[in-house]
Amino acid sequence: MNRTPADRPVPADPGDDGGTTVAVTGAEGFIGSHLTEALVRAGHRVRAMVQYNSFSSYGWLETLPAEVREEVDIQLGDVRDPGSVHALIEGAEAVYHLAALIAIPYSYRAPHSYVDTNITGTLNVLEAVRRLGTPRLVHTSTSETYGTALTVPITEDHPINTQSPYAASKAGADRLADSYHASFGTPVVTLRPFNTFGPRQSMRAVIPTVIGQIAAGERTLTLGDLRPTRDFTFVKDTARAFLAVGTAPAAEVAGRTFNAGTGGEISVGDLVRLIGKLMSADLDVREDCARIRPANSEVMRLVADAGRLRAATGWRPAYDLESGLAETIAFFREPANLARYKTDIYNI
Ligand SMILES: NC(=O)c1ccc[n+]([C@@H]2O[C@H](COP(=O)([O-])OP(=O)(O)OC[C@H]3O[C@@H](n4cnc5c(N)ncnc54)[C@H](O)[C@@H]3O)[C@@H](O)[C@H]2O)c1
Repeated sequence: MNRTPADRPVPADPGDDGGTTVAVTGAEGFIGSHLTEALVRAGHRVRAMVQYNSFSSYGWLETLPAEVREEVDIQLGDVRDPGSVHALIEGAEAVYHLAALIAIPYSYRAPHSYVDTNITGTLNVLEAVRRLGTPRLVHTSTSETYGTALTVPITEDHPINTQSPYAASKAGADRLADSYHASFGTPVVTLRPFNTFGPRQSMRAVIPTVIGQIAAGERTLTLGDLRPTRDFTFVKDTARAFLAVGTAPAAEVAGRTFNAGTGGEISVGDLVRLIGKLMSADLDVREDCARIRPANSEVMRLVADAGRLRAATGWRPAYDLESGLAETIAFFREPANLARYKTDIYNI
């Protein structure tokens, strides 16, 4: 396996070896915390936006090793607020914009909040980058914007078909990013990750739901539709994809969209069986109607062609599904980690 940024020691003096100050939105979340860690280990100082909250919680950033935390300047803020976005980005050499509302079921309930956060929030980031002349913006899309695959593997030229309010809000943000490049020459690159998994993921996603329940001693699992297939990418590989497009020459990436995925595909049902085998757990799996999405909203098949990203940056995944699952299982088996989750409810 290749050495990944997350395995590297933190440079003695981040920033002095060519590293720069970079800003990250959504830094306290699942992918954002891994990206923040990878950026520090690559020698950057990170200015991290954490969504303002009354608990003074810094999310997963609180769990990073002390030598990483020391290089992270945490700023409470909100991407819906132009002032706090501008303050975050001022003086940064690059911005990694990950903040978003991401849960599909909750987007059925609260669609306005998805438009405010994902579309208006992205507009605020684009405007700040444009006004400040920031040299690089990495905008985060999602494979959900493609909808059920019409052709596989999915290239960036596949039609966009937004089957949920979440997907629609992300596609709207993507279109704004494209328009800022076309209209103002804003140096934005869009990374479109396929399903990402690993330590720190919330139980809104299927892999932590299954592993977390088994780790908590549960053997009867209630899940949604078991038929859809997905291309699961380990989070450290996704973080490396962000770094790859964030540091590549502008001529290679600016104004372009890049898929990040492994090219592999597995159904949810087969994935659950694989996890059961890896955790030596005999499972009784039941489909729960409450978790099954409206028929036309369920994305039945996603599998990536990441050839464009490989050609532009040399990125390829270092983890296969089993090695990524092994690290994820080890994380959830740690009692202090498992204690952060509610394994006995349906997390939306
Ligand atoms: N997890 C996946 O499989 C996946 C796949 C494709 C794309 N993505 C994208 O990757 C990004 C990160 O997703 P994640 O899986 O880490 O989810 P996450 O929910 O863990 O992270 C999202 C972060 O955004 C923050 N946020 C939400 N609203 C905000 C606001 N108004 N102001 C500031 N911050 C706010 C949240 O606090 C959270 O930390 C998102 O843009 C998501 O659409 C995720």
